[in-house]
Amino acid sequence: MTREDFNKRIKKVLITKEEITEAIKIAGKEISDSYDGRPILLVSILKGAFVFMADLCRAITVPCEIGFMCAKSYFDGTVSTGTVAITMDLTQDISNYHVIIVEDIIDTGRTLSEVVKLLKARRPLSLKVVTLLDKPSRRVVEFEADKALFTIPDHFVIGYGLDCAEYYRNLPYIAEYGE
Ligand code: IMP
Ligand code: MG
Repeated sequence: MTREDFNKRIKKVLITKEEITEAIKIAGKEISDSYDGRPILLVSILKGAFVFMADLCRAITVPCEIGFMCAKSYFDGTVSTGTVAITMDLTQDISNYHVIIVEDIIDTGRTLSEVVKLLKARRPLSLKVVTLLDKPSRRVVEFEADKALFTIPDHFVIGYGLDCAEYYRNLPYIAEYGE
């Protein structure tokens, strides 16, 4: 894809880099204050949440560990088909941790309801979900995050880890995508 083709599909910046930084600073402080002294494991869902995880963990000022899982939801273009596969699992036992799932976006709710079901069965000390973005109007499966940094309308978005056909993850902001 040429630079021109890449740029013309970035329709509108929805959330700036500065707005993201500010919201993460607040979320990091909240986590640091409420989990101080407890064993924390941040679990990020790859690939989409890798940028959010990198910034959120650096906004946390108490000891914490990090882990990664890979969940793939299948897309037909920009529309979810409803199938979720765990293609890479955690390597650690989570039963001695307060687990915080760090997700990029909750759309239909299918991915997180599957991941939460799986992790709860492993009996962590507690389990919470923090998501950068929430698109509540798109829910197919009932699911609510403990914390959503931004609630957005039903529009396919890219950037800050989120992709369209694997591109655009490297944008430092969240934008609306359009052909
Ligand atoms: P779910 O539909 O809630 O299971 O969301 C599944 C995954 O789809 C998310 O973790 C994202 O990786 C991806 N996704 C959902 N909506 C968008 C979007 O607007 N842009 C990019 N990826 C999305
Ligand atoms: Mg994702």
